[in-house]
Amino acid sequence: MNTKGKDWLKEKLAEIEALESYAPEKTIGGVAKEYGLSPASIIKLNFNENLYIPREKIAALLKEVAEECDLRLYPQEEEEQLRVAIAKYLQLKPANVAVGNSSDEVMDRITRLFLDKGDVAVTFTPTFSVFRYCVRYNGAEYATAPLQKGFKLDVEGLRAAFTPETRLLYLCSPNNPTGNQFAPEEIEALIEDFPGLVMIDEAYGEYADYSAVPLIGKYENLVVLRTFSKAFGLAGLRLGYAVANPTLAKAINKIPAPYAINVVSLTMGRKLLENVGIMQEAVAALKAERRKLISRLNEIRGVEAFDSQANFVLINTSKPHEDVYVNLLKKGIIIKKLGRLLMYENCLRVTVGLPEMNVKLLNALKESLGEEA
Ligand SMILES: Cc1ncc(COP(=O)(O)O)c(C=O)c1O
Repeated sequence: MNTKGKDWLKEKLAEIEALESYAPEKTIGGVAKEYGLSPASIIKLNFNENLYIPREKIAALLKEVAEECDLRLYPQEEEEQLRVAIAKYLQLKPANVAVGNSSDEVMDRITRLFLDKGDVAVTFTPTFSVFRYCVRYNGAEYATAPLQKGFKLDVEGLRAAFTPETRLLYLCSPNNPTGNQFAPEEIEALIEDFPGLVMIDEAYGEYADYSAVPLIGKYENLVVLRTFSKAFGLAGLRLGYAVANPTLAKAINKIPAPYAINVVSLTMGRKLLENVGIMQEAVAALKAERRKLISRLNEIRGVEAFDSQANFVLINTSKPHEDVYVNLLKKGIIIKKLGRLLMYENCLRVTVGLPEMNVKLLNALKESLGEEA
């Protein structure tokens, strides 16, 4: 490489290094080592994974997949079969569906396809950070309007951020990390007014009160992201999808790398949809526990727990969030620390765990906030 080339590479690498990406979080193995605990005793409540679907049920389906699939071959009809199953599940047509390696990957693809350098993408804060990384990776600008009191949408604030260069509006519903959904009529008004593409992230859609999926037939600029990582309990397989009108879905399906999604994920997704009762039962159980957890959290002095339409709960504590976080880690409980969100200084987010995990969480929180456990 000549000197000019070397300079370019150095600059490019520095530019890439400066890009923001997902910061590594604590792992079960890491916490076990750091605090001298047994990995089996650790309760992981930081990633909104689904602990309600029994592992054995997933393992049994995976065994079937191992018997049925010939992994020596490239994928054949599996992607189309999954699109048919998703369409049936959401009462759409297969042409409305674009599948990907997780909803994050589909989001990355959409931002790459639709955002150019200098374009603007808009959302509210606080929200799911991966959207911001995707926008900035494309050299586009990230504009925001903060949520209002009660985590309500600031519709006028968002509208004020629309410019002739605004191409993408991201609405996370239910929103991570606040856990709430917004007034459906406000969402629809924004879709109607927005001059570009609206991407609604329904990663937690199965836990929520309503979905924007039925609107895709009405608005040509609407795409809804969904995932198998949450309600379907397949976070480890990395499978997600987008639904939109057929023209948009076809565009999102256009990827340069053929056969990008592996046969095991595609077939597992289809099998879970064919056994959708497994998911529904787990969602119903979680929702019942969510209600109890929120009310018990609010009984702890020094904890404010917010309502949730997702599989996690946002809390604000009277003590510094960092102290609460570390206290819990020492007891083998991993939660997500967030810090200041809007007017709330000490925010943390907890996945709704199984009842016995929540008992431990509540006791650990009580101790760490100075109450008797
Ligand atoms: C709002 C939101 N969207 C997407 C994802 C990631 O989903 P996936 O596992 O399909 O990439 C998450 C995961 O936490 C999330 O909170």
